[in-house]
Amino acid sequence: MTPRSLRDWVQVARRIVVLTGAGMSAESGVPTFRDAQTGLWSKFRPEQLATEQAFRADPGLVWDWYELRRQMIARVEPNAGHLALAAFAARHPGRLTVVTQNVDGLHQRAGSPDVLALHGNIFEDRWLDPARPCCLAQTPLPGRPPRCAACANLRRPGVVWFGEALPVQVLEQAEQAVRECDLMLVVGTSGVVYPAAGLARQAGGPVVIVNPQPSELDDVARAIVRSTAAHCLPVALEPQST
Ligand code: OAD
Repeated sequence: MTPRSLRDWVQVARRIVVLTGAGMSAESGVPTFRDAQTGLWSKFRPEQLATEQAFRADPGLVWDWYELRRQMIARVEPNAGHLALAAFAARHPGRLTVVTQNVDGLHQRAGSPDVLALHGNIFEDRWLDPARPCCLAQTPLPGRPPRCAACANLRRPGVVWFGEALPVQVLEQAEQAVRECDLMLVVGTSGVVYPAAGLARQAGGPVVIVNPQPSELDDVARAIVRSTAAHCLPVALEPQST
């Protein structure tokens, strides 16, 4: 399917869910998870760093990896795909829900309302162990990672790590939106990480995949657009000509 023919589907859909993954931000300059890592980090796989076990074993290493990603994300901008989604939502309030696996906040920065961020936000920290009365979020001792001056509890990135549960309410809202949609776009995800990928298997309407490469979700797709997010979405979501 071409981006232009996807536009015909978009125009008649009443409720659209767009599930995005790391490929959504690739054209902003954020490497995807399953791209090879570069430099210092080339000997690690993200799956080995994004776990509580890895953080407890070497908090400084994992903190530095997230710090690098934060700095990289802070330098980039939402791309034409993010902007097209936000503009469509502004023109059609309540018609499009963005559900994202990304922790980079680029959908929110582009102006998409009510983004359901399944894996959290890389710019928000929280305590590693449940906060004790001494653990005041405003006053951790600086460090890599910062820690509570009284009990040494560590700050950790507010993202969902492998093996951790997704935020319950966000997941429920996403599942409801997916069940009620009559068109689901799955953009820039390899479809290997559950439960996020499983959402595509619960869709109330046809699923269209936007990805230049094959993904693990191709079997659920009614149609596939072999294109990139920043190329396809502005065309597929462009205003109807009168
Ligand atoms: P992946 O890195 O697994 O997959 C990225 C996908 O984007 C691949 O299928 C690429 O073909 C595709 N892609 C690359 N460039 C693209 C572009 N310009 N436009 C569209 N698609 C493009 O990333 P995710 O599927 O998001 O989890 O990974 C899922 C989860 O695994 C992440 O949220 C993260 C990760 O480890 C946690 O952090 C819990």
